[in-house]
Amino acid sequence: MTQFTLPKNSTMLSKDFIYGVATASFQIEGAADQRLPCIWDTFCATPGKIADNSNGDSACEHVKNWQDDVELIDSLGVDAYRLSISWPRVIKLDGTLNQEGINFYITILDELMRRNIKAFVTLYHWDLPQHLEDKGGWLNRETAYEFARYVDLVSKALSGKVYSYATLNEPFCSSYLGYEIGVHAPGIKGREFGRKAAHHLLLAHGLAMKVLTKNSPESLNGIVLNFTPCYSVSSSEADIAATAFADDYINQWYMKPVMQGAYPDIIEQLPPAHRPDILAGDMDIICQPLDFLGVNFYTRLRYEASDTDYYHELPHQAPMTDIGWEIYPSALTELLVSLHQKYDLPPIYITENGAAMADKMVDGEVNDQDRIAYYNAHLNAVNDAILQGVNVAGYFAWSLMDNFEWAEGYSKRFGIVHVDYNTQIRTVKLSGKAYSQLITRR
Ligand code: FCB
Repeated sequence: MTQFTLPKNSTMLSKDFIYGVATASFQIEGAADQRLPCIWDTFCATPGKIADNSNGDSACEHVKNWQDDVELIDSLGVDAYRLSISWPRVIKLDGTLNQEGINFYITILDELMRRNIKAFVTLYHWDLPQHLEDKGGWLNRETAYEFARYVDLVSKALSGKVYSYATLNEPFCSSYLGYEIGVHAPGIKGREFGRKAAHHLLLAHGLAMKVLTKNSPESLNGIVLNFTPCYSVSSSEADIAATAFADDYINQWYMKPVMQGAYPDIIEQLPPAHRPDILAGDMDIICQPLDFLGVNFYTRLRYEASDTDYYHELPHQAPMTDIGWEIYPSALTELLVSLHQKYDLPPIYITENGAAMADKMVDGEVNDQDRIAYYNAHLNAVNDAILQGVNVAGYFAWSLMDNFEWAEGYSKRFGIVHVDYNTQIRTVKLSGKAYSQLITRR
């Protein structure tokens, strides 16, 4: 297969549907010496944290190669580019704007505009300045206010150049992976920390939404959440209840406060020491009207009841991608439909979807049929959700190019463009060509 196939009358074949590619600052930029250190620099420097002992010092050298990269993005024919701003690149230690840092983004945004590519800007894709972590990071309520100040400065400096702002990318990962199980930066571990960090992240989101509404009312302002739909292994009451708990704990914990201003009821079942510190008014701040909701989707998980814990998560099963995540496209349809049933949703953008595959470069070509099949199945899963009434306005492939895949380092390749890390040469994979065809043939 070299082509994506959507049903002929699909609204996803209309010119109004937005197709894009996505990246994040720490994963592609490099030029770590031209910004403040962030929590991922520190985490990478800690032995045993990153699978291939790598770091983000040079990554895809995007700071150096950005012009070619924007040219590449344009050559794919996409409508939009989702990028993130590196907080430690644009803010100085004293909290004021780093003009050189912000200029980097201004030039990129101007170039995108010149080429008629919509900029979807994420304000926080995990690279918290280390000096803020030294003061407690997301466990410190003050970090939420620091974030709002950063967003104020950035949204003023980028005025008129941004089509859409997302406050946070995947607060689940920042809080649960970073502060509860410790497999992401800053690597803090403890049941008592995850929910507290999550609350301050959500507070940061709400405060930032207010700033964006004031400084950038013309852009689509919202948040990007990741969802891993939870499936019960059996129809037993106990397994179903454990699965529902898991869904509340990992998915709805972020969605419900943002949309409805309340945490899931399971909060009552958590020991008081594990609960967030909620001050009067917090939930109202968190629950701001959104212009859009970004949904990131990769896989699903299966659950059963546990004698010793809230739930037991089963390992992923075949078919899997190279990162070991089950390929289960219908979960994306079911997720979108269930969100649509549970919540009063703004327009949805699939802000990330894609697959790590064990790519091989043969005669200058990456013939990634497995990734093409993944994309094709998931694009159709989105189409199925649209047919069931869900308002999906766009789709972004993760990722534009191979990059630093967090705890996996450079060992996992998610790009639709191959990156040779020795030469920094980019080669569009067959999946990239198929994606480009889908978009340009509309
Ligand atoms: C998501 C992240 C993104 C990327 C993909 C594979 O959780 O937002 O940066 O690493 O996973």
